[in-house]
Amino acid sequence: MNNGKETIVIIGFGWVGQANALALSYAGYPVYYFDIQKPNLKYADKYAKLYDKVKPISDVLEKDSHDTWYIVAVGDRVNQEGEQDISAIRKALESLKKAKGGVILRSTIIPGHLATLDFDYYIPEFLHEKKAVEESLLPQYFILGKKNGNEKKWPSFFYNWDRNATKVFHGTPEEASYIKYLSNTWNAIRIAFVNEFGNAISHPTDKEKLAKNERVVDFFFERKGYLRYGRSYGGHCLPKDTHAFLTWHKKQGKEMPLLEGMHKSNLIHQDIEKKHSHLPQWFSEWSRPVISGRVALRALGYSTSRNIKKIFKKTFSRKK
Ligand SMILES: NC(=O)c1ccc[n+]([C@@H]2O[C@H](COP(=O)([O-])OP(=O)(O)OC[C@H]3O[C@@H](n4cnc5c(N)ncnc54)[C@H](O)[C@@H]3O)[C@@H](O)[C@H]2O)c1
Repeated sequence: MNNGKETIVIIGFGWVGQANALALSYAGYPVYYFDIQKPNLKYADKYAKLYDKVKPISDVLEKDSHDTWYIVAVGDRVNQEGEQDISAIRKALESLKKAKGGVILRSTIIPGHLATLDFDYYIPEFLHEKKAVEESLLPQYFILGKKNGNEKKWPSFFYNWDRNATKVFHGTPEEASYIKYLSNTWNAIRIAFVNEFGNAISHPTDKEKLAKNERVVDFFFERKGYLRYGRSYGGHCLPKDTHAFLTWHKKQGKEMPLLEGMHKSNLIHQDIEKKHSHLPQWFSEWSRPVISGRVALRALGYSTSRNIKKIFKKTFSRKK
């Protein structure tokens, strides 16, 4: 039985890479990272001690073996026209061509690009930055795209993710990517719709007008995530991903008037927001109750329990 001691090498130590690194280190795996620049530690306020366990390597294949798993979390770029640039991701994957270990791709990539890339599993990331480490330890979704012809056995942490996620999907990398874009587009379209509707009720020039819009919207949507009047959709992912998805499909000759409208509506709302800074900002989380370290620990269970206890004691004994 695999007892969870594979070596993990994270490639691209940003938001996603660090969340995965800290979560897997917390679960008892030896974790290393490779990045082309000095990382800016995203979760140091909460997980400063855990960072000490995740060591940088200067040669990407330094820890290579048949028991090594590479998690690629290099960022894509999307230009003003909505074209996705995955050259950095391609470069990172090419550097693993000779690796004996397995490759898990976590970056967000348009379905049509995936066939041109080399990896074993595509598992798009669905985390929210505010609870990213906890969500990486116990992901809400486990969406697994297996590359055709890949015969690699699962790493041990897949079993925990597969067993404990609230939604599980096994399919092709392209299907996995469509689920990721479906999720982001659905989130964005709800935000844009509610804001456009709210603006139709009244222009939010002051707090009374804002309250007027919220009164109607909140009655109907009961203050659910992505369905609250406020700021336009922003952040690292929604604008970038929805724009890239729209542009790609338009280039393939597919009409997407609803998504075009959503994009336009959000741009209009961004202008409104610039003039009215009192528009509230809503952060979304999964509806599952907070995934605390303790819940996550229990879920990780059998394979890593001894390591976890040791790490938990050392790392968190002085934290509340
Ligand atoms: N941030 C989120 O909340 C989030 C959520 C879900 C999915 N994603 C997706 O995950 C991917 C990564 O996002 P992120 O927010 O972590 O990006 P990021 O910009 O914070 O981190 C990417 C890291 O990759 C590094 N990098 C670039 N080229 C490299 C190379 N050749 N080798 C090694 N490292 C390299 C960069 O220096 C950077 O540190 C993106 O595709 C993003 O859309 C992000």
